[in-house]
Amino acid sequence: MPVSEARISPLDRGFIFGDGIYEVIPAYGGKLFRLDEHLRRLANNLTAVKMKPPLATEAWKQVLNEIVLRNLPIHGSEQSIYLQVTRGVAERDHGFPDSHVEPTLFIMSTPLKALPESIAREGVAAITHEDIRWKNCHIKCTSLLGNILLRQQAYDEHAVEAILIRDGEVTEGAASNLFALIDGILITPPKGPLLLPGITRDLILELAQQHNIPSCEAFITPAQLKDAEEIWLTSSTKEILPVTTLDGVAVRNGKPGKVWQQMTQHYQQYKQQLRNA
Ligand SMILES: Cc1ncc(COP(=O)(O)O)c(C=O)c1O
Repeated sequence: MPVSEARISPLDRGFIFGDGIYEVIPAYGGKLFRLDEHLRRLANNLTAVKMKPPLATEAWKQVLNEIVLRNLPIHGSEQSIYLQVTRGVAERDHGFPDSHVEPTLFIMSTPLKALPESIAREGVAAITHEDIRWKNCHIKCTSLLGNILLRQQAYDEHAVEAILIRDGEVTEGAASNLFALIDGILITPPKGPLLLPGITRDLILELAQQHNIPSCEAFITPAQLKDAEEIWLTSSTKEILPVTTLDGVAVRNGKPGKVWQQMTQHYQQYKQQLRNA
């Protein structure tokens, strides 16, 4: 149905508490990208917050593929699928509702916007900021107030993202994972409760291995970040953004780096294989 016709109760715990889990899955050539990985993360997250899965894996696949198909005439073959599961509609109480309360499921398709060409020429600006979020950042939950405030802070400073620092270590972006090229090695912080296990992050580590780009998972300090040869931000919809200005200072020559160019080619080839499959 058109989104204008969709109705959700104001007592939905997603609305009242932000008590929900979500995913964002791109589709290229009408095919969902890394669907198994997204569904595995979704299942892990629902378990982590003790929420009933509204669908089994095969049913998820059917529904999501059908949404992409039905939206082909409206949005074309490159779509972004947003899905959200909340703990359902119940009288307001912090504790969980009775077990008969069914989860609410909302799924929508929007056209996937092509990234501006200026990114490959100029890159983007980012700021660093203390990570003000809670300590379960591995859960992709709809309570995103910390992330929202951090992203807005970046916008207010004419940057596109805030790179977060907690206890002397760089964690991730407000809505992205982080990579830094340090002494020729592509480094991303290890998974754990302080960052989201990004689907794009994992794919980039896979591609690095396949194409012999030295890479590893290791902690990064703010001083190492400041000195990095390249800095990238990764996410499903923005892919790999080269950060060319950090806190108002150029990253090396202030242009997207060579390794970013290589990785972007590999990433685009990987997408193309899905379209052709
Ligand atoms: C906090 C955070 N970290 C990382 C990511 C990147 O995850 P993915 O590559 O699965 O889109 C996102 C995505 O929106 C995010 O919100």
